[in-house]
Amino acid sequence: MEIRNNVLERGEAVVLALRALYADCGYEYYRMGKFEEYDFYAKNKDFLVSDNVLTFTDTNGKLMALKPDVTLSIIKGCEADPKGVRKAYYSENVYRPAADGAFKEILQTGLECFGELGGAEITEVMTLAVKSLRTISSDCVLDVSDLGVADALCETLGLAAQDRAALWAAVGSKNAAAIRAALSSSGAPEERVDAATRVFSLADGLPVAIPVLEAAKRAFWEIPALEEFLGVLSALVGTEGADAVRVDFSVTGDANYYNGIIFKGFLRGVPAPVLSGGRYDRLMKRLRKNAAAIGFAVYTDGIDAPQTGVLPQKDDYLNVALPKGRLGEKIYKMFAEAGYPCPSLLEESRKLVFENEESRVRYFWVKPSDVTIYVERGVADVGVAGKDILAEYAPDVYELLDLKKGACRMAVAGPKGFKDDKGRALRVATKFGEVARAYYQGKGRDIDIIHLNGSIEIAPILGLSDVILDIVETGTTLKENDLEVIETVFPISARLIANKSAAKFKKAALDRLTQGLAAVVEKLQ
Ligand code: PRP
Repeated sequence: MEIRNNVLERGEAVVLALRALYADCGYEYYRMGKFEEYDFYAKNKDFLVSDNVLTFTDTNGKLMALKPDVTLSIIKGCEADPKGVRKAYYSENVYRPAADGAFKEILQTGLECFGELGGAEITEVMTLAVKSLRTISSDCVLDVSDLGVADALCETLGLAAQDRAALWAAVGSKNAAAIRAALSSSGAPEERVDAATRVFSLADGLPVAIPVLEAAKRAFWEIPALEEFLGVLSALVGTEGADAVRVDFSVTGDANYYNGIIFKGFLRGVPAPVLSGGRYDRLMKRLRKNAAAIGFAVYTDGIDAPQTGVLPQKDDYLNVALPKGRLGEKIYKMFAEAGYPCPSLLEESRKLVFENEESRVRYFWVKPSDVTIYVERGVADVGVAGKDILAEYAPDVYELLDLKKGACRMAVAGPKGFKDDKGRALRVATKFGEVARAYYQGKGRDIDIIHLNGSIEIAPILGLSDVILDIVETGTTLKENDLEVIETVFPISARLIANKSAAKFKKAALDRLTQGLAAVVEKLQ
């Protein structure tokens, strides 16, 4: 039987090519049923992307689930003490809630390799991850990090738990200044802080990353995890597609399951990662399997999503989402000073998109709370959003720089002399439901959130709420409504954010912009 190419969708053709790639390397096809007992996921729910699983009761009255994950099922089926190396590949639908909360069917094609793993197996899996990306497009990046290395560096530096949390936040945001600040607080010798700062700031290919990791090896002496990581990376040098591999410690995973090497794959023009994987010996242990394991999954559903609007896409332009309003104009001036002027933007008009061919920049004005949406979905490469919005929506973006503009604070306020009656839930009126939830959860205080869209200050005056959680800038609104700040939750300022995929494929342009803006911020201090 011959299948003509023109009847295959691109996604289908890619899946078949991936299956052939894995089969050629000795991986065996693993076909699964669609359902699993719910109890299995309830026990391992931390491993899942979401706690929400689609369930139904079967004819025997057993609670069943539509598979939200493939890895768990494959491991469950393997013996407790496998000898040698097992290699399996699959192509299955899984069912998970999307960002809007609705369940989605997602096609995953991937592989698992477990048993007595050595360097050769790890290198093979990494090489297959790169080849999988290149099967879809040659314009790809595989970001690689290592949880064992990250842990060992923190341990050797003697970083306190709270500084470690600050470091992970900074590494996840790719905020170079915050990375150095978190590492410096260890009080370790400068040579080690410098070496670790360079490691945690990496976003570079093997020719740059390997010497940085080797320098860390010299500064830190014996770190077996680092030796092992360098071994894997060195083995990749010279292999097909090695130029797509980059080391980036912002790639991370749940340390209860993952250990060692961990990676994510990106394609130009696709805003979210299309490949995700890593070493998961800890998950094996939790499932009482005496074996090491590594695997990855490729998500092919998103690869054909078109991103074409009326305006032509210009790959060599930086697309910038600016928050409409007074703050946005100040921010634009900083961009202009950093070398990205676009004079037409300040002319009186109702236009929303502006371009400057000379500085290769396209600006668009959007509602401040929408900036993160444009950036997360990759329509904008970068944008500027307040820390309030970032805290509330936790978008999957990099937070590159504090622009130190629009300074204000998130605060709890109430009527003068307010006394909290701990005998009942505190009624909190706010636009920032998630911030309120997290803040009071941390304090162990039961609250009733009243979600409002504006004029929050009126709620305690009319008895709708006890307190408000809102932005306070000058404090005038509070004062004029006989309210006062009870507690400050966190300081707010405007942040430069970037789409994670754009940060890889437009790295040089983004680095130039970030450095230019950092210099402007410095000058304004
Ligand atoms: C914000 C905030 C406060 C006010 C604080 O409101 O929600 O109401 O500014 O500023 P101040 O401390 O300088 O008085 P915004 O203007 O965004 O309008 P809103 O009422 O629609 O939220």
